Amino acid sequence: MPCTVIAGGFWGDEGKGKIISYLALKEPLDVCVRTGSVNAAHTIWYQGKRYALHMVPGGFVHEKCRLLIAAGSNVEIKSFLEEVELTGVKSRIGVDSQASIIEEKHAEQDKASAYLKGTIGTTGRGVGPAVEERARRSAKLARDIPELKPYIADVATETNKAIDAGKNVLLEGTQGILLSLFHGTYPYVTSRDTSAAAICSEVGVGPTKVDNVLLVLKSFMTRVGTGPLPGEISKEEAQKRGWFETAAGTGRDRRAAPFNFELAKKAVMINGATQIALTKLDCIYPKCQGARTFNELPVEAKQLINDIEKQTGTPVALVGTGPDALDLIDRRQ
Ligand code: IMP
Ligand code: MG
Repeated sequence: MPCTVIAGGFWGDEGKGKIISYLALKEPLDVCVRTGSVNAAHTIWYQGKRYALHMVPGGFVHEKCRLLIAAGSNVEIKSFLEEVELTGVKSRIGVDSQASIIEEKHAEQDKASAYLKGTIGTTGRGVGPAVEERARRSAKLARDIPELKPYIADVATETNKAIDAGKNVLLEGTQGILLSLFHGTYPYVTSRDTSAAAICSEVGVGPTKVDNVLLVLKSFMTRVGTGPLPGEISKEEAQKRGWFETAAGTGRDRRAAPFNFELAKKAVMINGATQIALTKLDCIYPKCQGARTFNELPVEAKQLINDIEKQTGTPVALVGTGPDALDLIDRRQ
């Protein structure tokens, strides 16, 4: 901290939710700002309960954390209100007055498009069509919506003031760099840039205000929807290795492949990563399950961490070893 950007290094689903919940509880976080939209789900285990959040920032697990939704985000009103209820954060969540709104018609447009649904494999939540409408300057904004009135905030001002006051601020990215509209595997990408710089831009925080860029990489790679996945293995093989996952948001199968150093290096470069969080190490080395110190790890796991550090030139500061927020090795002093 004080201002950390958390970004995904592959195709999303790297385990950002878990890392955010750890930081929220541990630091503890004062402000957590979510970017992106409802196509992304962040999975968080908290007090024995699993949350798949599409709108509420992962920092909700720390009950004093102020939660904000960025101007660059797209808000789906029903999901937002449901999640606010579910997490009980009504008194401490704010939505930027200029965040744009996803309407029912946008989700219908996603689903009605054979190209988006079939070729691209959209999540069907309407984010792409909502972004299109925003670019045409005809979108509804949060400030136009009566139900959102109690939540309206100036997120850029609040966030910058918190940073200037030395508070712990986390800017929460969604998806991963390889789904970026600019830097990903176009056209098999989402409708926004997902890089650390874009996360800052969505919030309204300048690059000079950021101290850390924490890049989340999973110990193997997964991807939902279509598009290239180097080294892809079959579903049967993924099941055998314990790498088979289904999407938290849509329930679709996630395709799987081994960790790719070239892609990791590119992700570090484009995001300007200062630290890496490596997640799900226990899925590739079951002996790591629940480890809380580096010394507990088997030699192959230590070797992988050392290789990642060497090849990317970036420290692996956090290592996830299980689903709980606290199943983690914290290697920052
Ligand atoms: P859309 O952004 O919903 O239109 O989906 C476009 C592509 O991005 C599809 O391949 C989706 O599966 C993928 N995608 C969008 N959001 C996420 C996410 O949060 N995690 C993983 N993949 C995503
Ligand atoms: Mg996800």
